[in-house]
Amino acid sequence: MAFAEKPDSDGLAEFRDLLLGWFRQYRRDLPWRKDREPYRIWISEIMLQQTRVAAVIPYYERFLARFPNVKSLADAPEDDVLRLWSGLGYYSRARNLQSAARQICAEHGGEFPRTREKLLALPGIGDYTVAAILSIALGEQSAVLDGNVARVIARLEATRGDLREPDQWRQLQATARRLLAPEKAGDWNEAMMELGATLCVPRNPQCLLCPIANFCEARRLGIAGSIPAKRKKRATVAVHLVSAVFLDARGNTLLLPPPAGSDRGRADDHVPSLVAKLWHFPTISAPEGSDQALRELLQGTLKIKNANPVQSRLLEKVRHTVTYRTVSVAAYLVQVGQLPEISGARQTTLEAADRLSISNLTRKILRQALKHVAIAKK
Ligand code: ADE
Repeated sequence: MAFAEKPDSDGLAEFRDLLLGWFRQYRRDLPWRKDREPYRIWISEIMLQQTRVAAVIPYYERFLARFPNVKSLADAPEDDVLRLWSGLGYYSRARNLQSAARQICAEHGGEFPRTREKLLALPGIGDYTVAAILSIALGEQSAVLDGNVARVIARLEATRGDLREPDQWRQLQATARRLLAPEKAGDWNEAMMELGATLCVPRNPQCLLCPIANFCEARRLGIAGSIPAKRKKRATVAVHLVSAVFLDARGNTLLLPPPAGSDRGRADDHVPSLVAKLWHFPTISAPEGSDQALRELLQGTLKIKNANPVQSRLLEKVRHTVTYRTVSVAAYLVQVGQLPEISGARQTTLEAADRLSISNLTRKILRQALKHVAIAKK
């Protein structure tokens, strides 16, 4: 039987010492490791979900400089929060952070909650985030299980099959709790995540450098590289959109606002919601870019009466991948004498549009438009 399934107490003490010793020596110097304040740990853990450490660092630093505590986050205009999140993706994370900050001010007098129940009652906080905050910020004995930790444990136990299958995940949780170093729960959790992120990586695990290789069943069997088993991939779905980048004689364009309140929860299968979560160019779904699709967008969707652009140009195709969807956008640069009146829309120069809260997809469209305008000026 693998060590991790039934560790004896001497072995467990040695196992913990080895991993904690490795972590003390090799831990990366990351900005959220400078102090253990629950607010800062919370922000870092939310940002790190589905996002690489290197991408998170500059966002984390800007975000904490602008919103150093719960109250400043709760009091900010939502658009300020989204602007600082712009480009990081999964924008519901930013909205949930702010909703949670407002709830903390309303229900807990601005004091960050310190119990599992109160934390779980906040939007955007689930088992993983609770365990991370409780252990890292408050030293409580709560074991985290994320993708990295699950891979480390699955290899220690030579677990076959899909780790996300509920029974498997529960067993991994039980092992994570068994292994947790009770006096150093925060360091322990971070050490497990760090091992998964740096050595016990999905492909080509660095077993020769691993401090706990001697405890690893997959290593003993020579199968570390094939655990975890590959998951069945969801089939990709191709999404085709048509967008209009208006441009008037003064170089101004129009962006539509992110949905407010109840609209924002609209299901993702409402296709333009792929671009509409932040400020965005008017967009519809249409199989191919064509004069007819553009007309449909201008007259059908935007209800522009005299939609007679001075000129409309199909820009270079924009391609973007969001989880299982591959999005291709036929964006038109629509030159007009005067920008149409659209309720809620915002006028900005093409150059300044980059400073609004826009998604990476919108930024790609914007870049094509700017490129075209720069070439046309030459
Ligand atoms: N991934 C997510 N949170 C982390 C942390 N606190 N340390 C290392 N990797 C992480």
